[in-house]
Amino acid sequence: MKIPIAKTYLTEKEIQSVLEPLRNGWLVQGPKVKQFEDAWSEFTGAEDSIAVTSCTTALYLSLVALGVKPGDEIIVPAFTWIATANVVEHLGGKVIFCDIDLKTFNINPQSIEVLITEKTKAIIPVHLFGLAAEMTQIKEIAKKYNLFIVEDAACGFGSTINGIHVGNFGDTGCFSFHPRKAITTGEGGMITTNNKNLANKLRKLRDHGSEMNDLQRHLGPKPYLLSDHTEAGYNLRMTDIQASLGLAQMWRAKAIINERCALGEKYNKEFKNISWLQKPQKTSIYNHSYQSYPCIFEIERVLNAIENKNSKKLQNINIERNEWMDLLLDKGVSTRPATHAVHMLSYYRKKYNLVPENFPYAQAANECSISFPLYNGMKQNEQNFVINLVNQRNT
Ligand SMILES: Cc1ncc(COP(=O)(O)O)c(C=O)c1O
Repeated sequence: MKIPIAKTYLTEKEIQSVLEPLRNGWLVQGPKVKQFEDAWSEFTGAEDSIAVTSCTTALYLSLVALGVKPGDEIIVPAFTWIATANVVEHLGGKVIFCDIDLKTFNINPQSIEVLITEKTKAIIPVHLFGLAAEMTQIKEIAKKYNLFIVEDAACGFGSTINGIHVGNFGDTGCFSFHPRKAITTGEGGMITTNNKNLANKLRKLRDHGSEMNDLQRHLGPKPYLLSDHTEAGYNLRMTDIQASLGLAQMWRAKAIINERCALGEKYNKEFKNISWLQKPQKTSIYNHSYQSYPCIFEIERVLNAIENKNSKKLQNINIERNEWMDLLLDKGVSTRPATHAVHMLSYYRKKYNLVPENFPYAQAANECSISFPLYNGMKQNEQNFVINLVNQRNT
C-alpha cells in the first residue's frame, strides 16, 4: 500500500466547475472571484474577503496596506513556512524571530514582549496546522504597544477560538489554497478583514491601484471609460478559473473540515497510549481543524535535551526520527517534518547571524517533529495501516 502525506480530493462536479469560465470567456478576476469571496466571508464571518494569488502575496499585500516600510521590525515565529518571514524581507523590513510553544507549534506569547522595540510595527502570528495561535494574549500585547497584527492563517481554514474563525482577530487574516490545504485552487490566497478602509485599499492594491475593477466597469453605465488609479498597485488578482474551483468546494466546507477532524480524532484515540509521541493539542476553546497531523517524536527526551541545552542529544533524536521515517517510507507510508525552523535556513542564518540554539523550541520542532498522512478521501484501511505501523515501533 502507498499512502501519501496528503492528496487532493475533488468531486467530478468541482472539476467540471472550471469549465464554466473557460466557456463563458471570463477568465480573469470577475463574477466567480466575487462569489468565492462572498462565500469565504459567510463561512469565516469576516466582513470582507479579498482573493489574491497566494497566501504569500496575501501576507505581502497586508503589510503594504498597513504601511510597513524599510527598517520596520516585524515579529515572526521561528517555526513556520519561510513565506511568513520572506514577505518582511521583500519590504526591506527586519525579521524578528520569536520562539514557539512546542505543545502547540505556535508562537509563544510569553516570548513576544521582550522583542518589542521602537521600530516594531507588527506581529505575524501563524495558526499552524489547524490550531489557532493564542490570540487573546497576542491582541493584548499588540494593543499595549500599538502594533498591527497580520494573521498567517495559511493552514487555518476551520480553525476557531471560542467559535470565532481565525482571520477575525488581526487587522488582516491570510489564507492559502495550495493543494495541501483543506480547500484548494491550485495556487491562490484570500485576505480577510473587518476594516472597510483596509479592505478597499487591499482591493485597489491587488488590481494596479484601480478605483474600479473590470467587473464593476463592465457592468456599469459607461464600460468604455477607464478607471482612475490612485495607488501604484500590483497585479495579484485571482483568476475566475481558480475561483470557480474554490467556490465549488465551499458548499461542502463543513463536511471537509468534519472529515479531517474525524481522521485526526481517530489518530488521537489510537495513539493515546503511545507516550513517546506528542499528539496535536486542542482545548475546549481552541479547536483543531487538522490541516495536518503534527507530532513530536520522543517528546520526553526532546524536552530533556532542551532543558539541558544539549543540541547533540536533539541531533541524535533527529537521526532516529529520520531512520524511522525511512522505515515507514519503505513500507509505503509518507511522513514529513511538520514544517521548518526558518532561522535555521541558510538565508536567515547567514543574514541575521543565527544559530539553531537561539530558538530552542523551534529547533526541536525542526529536528524532531513528524506529521502523519491525513487527507480528505483517506480510506479506513489506509489510516489503519498507518496506525498499525506506528504502534509497531520498537522503542
Ligand atoms: C504557515 C504558512 N504561511 C504561508 C504559506 C504560503 O502559502 P502559499 O503557498 O499559498 O503562498 C504557507 C504555505 O504552505 C504556510 O504553511
